[in-house]
Amino acid sequence: MKKLVGALSLCLLLANCGEKKEEKKGGFEMNRAKTEKKEEKVVEKTPIDMSNEGIGPYKDFSFPSDIDSGLASEGEAKYKNVCTACHMADKKLIGPALSGVYERRNATWVMNMMKNPTEMLRKDPIAKALLKEYNNAVMLDNKLSDQETRAIAEYLRTL
Ligand code: HEC
Repeated sequence: MKKLVGALSLCLLLANCGEKKEEKKGGFEMNRAKTEKKEEKVVEKTPIDMSNEGIGPYKDFSFPSDIDSGLASEGEAKYKNVCTACHMADKKLIGPALSGVYERRNATWVMNMMKNPTEMLRKDPIAKALLKEYNNAVMLDNKLSDQETRAIAEYLRTL
């Protein structure tokens, strides 16, 4: 008799445990659904601020009116070597599509983003928002020289 009671209560205990687990799981899933909804609301569009020049060595840069095709093709070669791992002209890849980038970003900002991405991602409001928009995928510092940065900047005008 004692044994039977023991087995019975063990059984009840187990059944109880099982139930509790279920409840917990249900609760967890509900919570998760809630947070996901919340996150969706919080994500803001990356701002456009054409007066922001970013943070880095470049100040007040602007392009001459004509595209320098020699410089652009020098930039194209470097761009194809290092940037196409993460960027395409017309489609999002790991980073944003770069066609038309000067319509939403100041040229100086773009140069600073190429030359100094790590600090930009930490401090610049546009870069910080982009980082969020791109799920924290980090644009690496490609250690470009000034000449390479300038040449790629020229090439981006042609995309
Ligand atoms: C490892 C992947 C990676 C590489 C390599 C990379 N980028 Fe990026 N880039 C990104 C990501 C991701 C972003 C968005 C910001 C973030 O999340 O870091 C970005 C943002 C940018 C932006 C800002 C675009 C906008 O819409 O404002 C420019 C300009 C840019 N990259 C240019 C370049 C150039 C030029 C190169 C090559 C020298 C390059 N990137 C190499 C990943 C990369």
